Amino acid sequence: MPQETPTEQLSETDAKAELAQLHAQLSQANLAYHQDDDPVISDAEYDTLKRRNAAIEARFPHLKRDDSPSEQVGAAPAAGFGKVTHAVRMMSLGNAFSDADVADFDQKIRRYLGLEAEAALAFTAEPKIDGLSLSLRYENGRLVQAATRGDGTVGENVTANARTIEDIPQTIADAPEVLEVRGEVYMSHPDFAALNARQTESGQKTFANPRNAAAGSLRQLDASITAARPLRFFAYAWGEVSAPLGETQSAVLSRFATFGFSVNPLTTTCSTLAEMLAQYRLIEGQRATLGYDIDGVVYKVDALDLQRRLGFRSTTPRWAIAHKFPAEIGVTRLEKIEIQVGRTGALSPVARLTPVTVGGVVVSNATLHNADYIAGRDGQGAPIREGRDLREGDWVTVYRAGDVIPKVKDVDLSRRPKGTQAYDFPTTCPECGSDVLREPGEAVARCTGGLICPAQAVEKLKHFVSRAAFDIEGLGAKQVEAFFEEGWIKEPADVFTLVDRHGPVSLQPLNAREGWGEKSAQNLFDAIRERQAIPLNRLIFALGIRHVGESSAGLLARIYGTWEAFRTAVEAARDHEGPEWEALNAIDGVGSVMAAALVDYFHQDTTRAAVDRLLAHLEVQPVVAPATSTSPVAGKTVVFTGTLETMTRAEAKATAEALGAKVSGSVSAKTDILVAGPGAGSKLIKAEGLGVAVMSEEAWRALIS
Ligand code: IVH
Repeated sequence: MPQETPTEQLSETDAKAELAQLHAQLSQANLAYHQDDDPVISDAEYDTLKRRNAAIEARFPHLKRDDSPSEQVGAAPAAGFGKVTHAVRMMSLGNAFSDADVADFDQKIRRYLGLEAEAALAFTAEPKIDGLSLSLRYENGRLVQAATRGDGTVGENVTANARTIEDIPQTIADAPEVLEVRGEVYMSHPDFAALNARQTESGQKTFANPRNAAAGSLRQLDASITAARPLRFFAYAWGEVSAPLGETQSAVLSRFATFGFSVNPLTTTCSTLAEMLAQYRLIEGQRATLGYDIDGVVYKVDALDLQRRLGFRSTTPRWAIAHKFPAEIGVTRLEKIEIQVGRTGALSPVARLTPVTVGGVVVSNATLHNADYIAGRDGQGAPIREGRDLREGDWVTVYRAGDVIPKVKDVDLSRRPKGTQAYDFPTTCPECGSDVLREPGEAVARCTGGLICPAQAVEKLKHFVSRAAFDIEGLGAKQVEAFFEEGWIKEPADVFTLVDRHGPVSLQPLNAREGWGEKSAQNLFDAIRERQAIPLNRLIFALGIRHVGESSAGLLARIYGTWEAFRTAVEAARDHEGPEWEALNAIDGVGSVMAAALVDYFHQDTTRAAVDRLLAHLEVQPVVAPATSTSPVAGKTVVFTGTLETMTRAEAKATAEALGAKVSGSVSAKTDILVAGPGAGSKLIKAEGLGVAVMSEEAWRALIS
């Protein structure tokens, strides 16, 4: 497999080409895996490609394809099977790769629900079965349909095949009228070995692993072949049901058992994070002797009413996560530590490694995160790797985790060459020589050169004029580079003063170049002038805020409507805590990473000043949220006051906004609805004075349900 360029170093053109290539590779792999059950690459390679794709998309959000592999769950159904549209979409799971990720998951849920850190919150911990998911539909207690996940929306009809699986009951007594039971079809290790032996004997192809064998066996057009293959099934979830199955995940699992399904015996309920992690270790310890493949532990919020409140992100639930077992590890030499300066000015230390294969991929670079990480301590000064620092010349262990960029796990001090020096983190930017600043409490050191730093400035400008941003005809990446070199455009505001400062005549040096006659210059000035009126979503995207891609910019624009509202809300969240911060986090589609990036962007004085200079030339066109015809509160301005009893403020705001309402913190003549809980005071009085509709939390819930 080719060695990859770190995403920080990728040019936009290369990124685009690589995304196209990844799309092709992943599509082919998906088809081979899901439709032909004959994988062309290993699982580890597949994961690596997906992560690489995600990493490039995170770096160049505007290059994300409409048919991006990150939005796909599995593959569309194969041609030979009938199609089934799932009554309830079959979702995927988010991943956790460390205890810290799980702690973060627990914390985020508590924050969303407004629970104290110590408040009781139960989770189930279930082995993550490495098979393929199947949805079984029972009507009046009879199995009427079995469907694979497919792309999550449409799967394959494999009813005849599912009927041959012993673990799947054909009829269920006492089932609700409609019942969809979901779970994993898998093959045990002994059955897998026996199947492959039979295949070899009869001169047929063998399977790479039990999961592929299970998939290949279930997805047989001839059900008699499936019948001859010993498939098993564990039930762990459900789709459409005409009556509730219980109040908790664990109660539903017990109910499944009474229906006659197999429920994984290692499933437990945990009431603390420590118990969840202990259960993970316990299951991990039994992994080798279970007799079937598992690839992690799934934690789910046990209470179903809380699951409902937490809801879903685009393809994964907020109330569950898969804690994956660790990735493979490689040992190699750290040849050199180099510093890269990103678009945001962050100095990222990178380890140049003697190439080593980890999980089927050649690794030659690894992230070193920041100065502390190299020195062997975390952000709080506590030791990591028991305080062992990393030096050029060291022997290190590397691994691939959730991110595509490999990481250095540890260092072998017994192999440290004599005479090595502790690494000196640069105090000046290697690109522009500006001072490097590390804010107290911040892990990242940043070049203070801002737009003066060529590494940052050019990349920012290219992004600023790109298609989904200002899209100025005649001012593409090439021109930006040339204009930057000439010193004509150093920051976004300069684009709009170009005409006044230079006028067509002073673009002479460019006139001399091919394709740059007077006419081109005049056209460019016209194009620039035209873009002074800019829709809010394009402006937000153009700023190049980390983690804010085109669709996120659109989302923010729809939610805030105007530049002033957007900027005020983000600046008000600057403390990374408090109601404004919570509100920003609670927007569906904005996670804590994006929220932090937004806040940090406006935190820097130089950025704020550059944005002000830019805004002086623009007329920002507000974005009106589309009136959702089905939502009774679309376009309405809502204020919440007093104590809310069934939801947190953040949750209330997120729900209202998802329904197209605008949530404000204060009552004015523009307020349409005031939702007042117990203890409401001045806002309630003011609303009554203004004749604003006032309703209880209960009435509000009835209105939006
Ligand atoms: S719950 C809405 N529980 O893992 C959540 N999934 O990576 C639905 N899987 O698509 C999934 N064991 O095929 C759940 N105990 C378990 C599981 C499990 C295996 C699979 C399932 C899912 C995939 C996500």
